[in-house]
Amino acid sequence: MVAHRNIMLWLAALVILGSCAAQTPIVIWHGMGDSCCNPLSMGSIKSLIQKNINGVYVKSLEIGSNVAEDTENGFFMNVNKQIDMVCQQLANDKNLSNGYNAIGFSQGGQFLRAIAQKCPTPPMLNLISVGGQHQGVYGFPKCPGDNGTICNLVRKMLNYGVYVSFVQDNLVQAEYWQDPLNEEEYRAKSVFLADINQERPTKNMTYKENLLKLKNMVLVMFLQDTMVQPKESEWFGFYEPGQTEKLYNMTQSDLYKNDYLGLKTLYQSGRITFLSSDSDHLRFTDDWFINNIIKRFLV
Ligand SMILES: *[C@@H]1O[C@H](CO)[C@@H](O)[C@H](O)[C@H]1NC(C)=O
Ligand SMILES: *[C@@H]1O[C@H](CO)[C@@H](O)[C@H](O)[C@H]1NC(C)=O
Ligand SMILES: *[C@@H]1O[C@H](CO)[C@@H](O)[C@H](O)[C@H]1NC(C)=O
Ligand SMILES: *[C@@H]1O[C@H](CO)[C@@H](O)[C@H](O)[C@H]1NC(C)=O
Repeated sequence: MVAHRNIMLWLAALVILGSCAAQTPIVIWHGMGDSCCNPLSMGSIKSLIQKNINGVYVKSLEIGSNVAEDTENGFFMNVNKQIDMVCQQLANDKNLSNGYNAIGFSQGGQFLRAIAQKCPTPPMLNLISVGGQHQGVYGFPKCPGDNGTICNLVRKMLNYGVYVSFVQDNLVQAEYWQDPLNEEEYRAKSVFLADINQERPTKNMTYKENLLKLKNMVLVMFLQDTMVQPKESEWFGFYEPGQTEKLYNMTQSDLYKNDYLGLKTLYQSGRITFLSSDSDHLRFTDDWFINNIIKRFLV
């Protein structure tokens, strides 16, 4: 009888251990000019993660029904529409129902933050932003992943007028463009960034409530970044209004001080980690990724 009970206890312990050992799934969102499944970028990241975390489920987000659409949508599909699509994709994936860790590369970083703020189910546990532009960009020095056709069109649209409604509705990069010389127009007309950064007259406090559910928000800045202007946006810094030299950092930002997003609350409870890689945009090494991201936040 006693032996029988012991066996039952052992079995119960094994079941519990087994479920603990199930690795937290990971969702990744690629950057501009890239796609879900490029073997040289997201494909190799996915296999790097799976090599280091035995059996983990990795979902590399695809926006659209094939790789070409996915790449184009990274330029021309309204971000709010992309957020709605991804929100659905995550909710429909049973593998994620107990929660997931999110890694966003470049613009995927701010897009996944929008997911954290808007789509609490399934729960995002850790948000890792690798070169994401959380205060937007003011400059577009390079345009990756294209033969020139798309990039020329992007440039034409930006030059035509970043805050013109046709451009706002159709050009992803305009939707996180912050003009420090024209903050008023930015706040009034930016369809994406001004919204998720609580810069509208009315604040949506659900964004804060949801963001505060994160265990950690990890922000990676590339110290030699030649693509993001200013690179400090990757740590929630940006140009002070009215000029393009002087920068504020996260704790000096209005967004932090007013705490409309919960940044102050997160930071003061030790849940924001600033990391850097001494390289150009997204040019980290496998070792850097394993030691700073996988070992610290994903296992
Ligand atoms: C869920 O995860 C399992 C194991 O990794 C995988 O075989 C299956 O395809 C996944 N389901 C979906 C919807 O991707
Ligand atoms: C606030 O955000 C939540 C989450 O996206 C949304 O469901 C709600 O409609 C928003 N509220 C307002 C007033 O826009
Ligand atoms: C460049 O890419 C565009 C869009 O993907 C395509 O339509 C065009 O044929 C390409 N041009 C060249 C010269 O490869
Ligand atoms: C921002 O800069 C101020 C002044 O240099 C400094 O005290 C503060 O620690 C910085 N905040 C962060 C998050 O680095």
